[in-house]
Amino acid sequence: MKIKYHGHAFVQIETGKYSIIIDPFITGNPLAKIKPADVRCHYIILTHGHGDHFGDTVELGRRNNATVLATFELANYAESKGVRFVHPMNLGGSYQFPFGRVKLTIAHHSSSTPDGQYAGEPAGVLLYLDGITIYHAGDTALFYDMKLIGETNNIDYAFLPIGDNFTMGIDDAVKAAEFVNTKNVIPVHFNTFDVIKADANEFKKKLESIGRKCLIMNPGDELKI
Ligand code: NI
Ligand code: MN
Repeated sequence: MKIKYHGHAFVQIETGKYSIIIDPFITGNPLAKIKPADVRCHYIILTHGHGDHFGDTVELGRRNNATVLATFELANYAESKGVRFVHPMNLGGSYQFPFGRVKLTIAHHSSSTPDGQYAGEPAGVLLYLDGITIYHAGDTALFYDMKLIGETNNIDYAFLPIGDNFTMGIDDAVKAAEFVNTKNVIPVHFNTFDVIKADANEFKKKLESIGRKCLIMNPGDELKI
């Protein structure tokens, strides 16, 4: 299995048979090193509707005949924009897909579509793939129920936002890493824009000081697991 990071909150997971992408923000993402035409995917998972997460979903969904997994309102929105296959879900629900199980968790943020429509609640995502558990927190504040996510899951890799301003900053994300009790943390949602500049090395040091492992991935990096 491979995990690729494309900058901002855009994460790609390749299981060998399936390519699953989360929050595919390419157009307008100054950190993205790939082009929409280079992305092959079977499933697109969206944490919420904001433009820096919904991104190129319509083009990628249509061109790859990919299925969009998102909250009910956001999945319906994607369908209304021309995506052929959608799978609406909602918070707390999980479903077994051919590549593995997906569960949507709560996230404390907001969610609207790029053109300003209500997009349901924002979400985090738990992926259960071949014995590996991945948590993508989406855009969120620190919240105490992350502890419940940690108690009920054995998380191997957690993608946590550290950019501050719109989401957790470094110190809150360190606390989040403790709460979700993950083996490895990968910082996301920082340095894309001036207002979310953050020092990933400072985050890494703070995590290491409490005995947690941090993997800093640069856009284009991949991790074999
Ligand atoms: Ni957002
Ligand atoms: Mn965002």
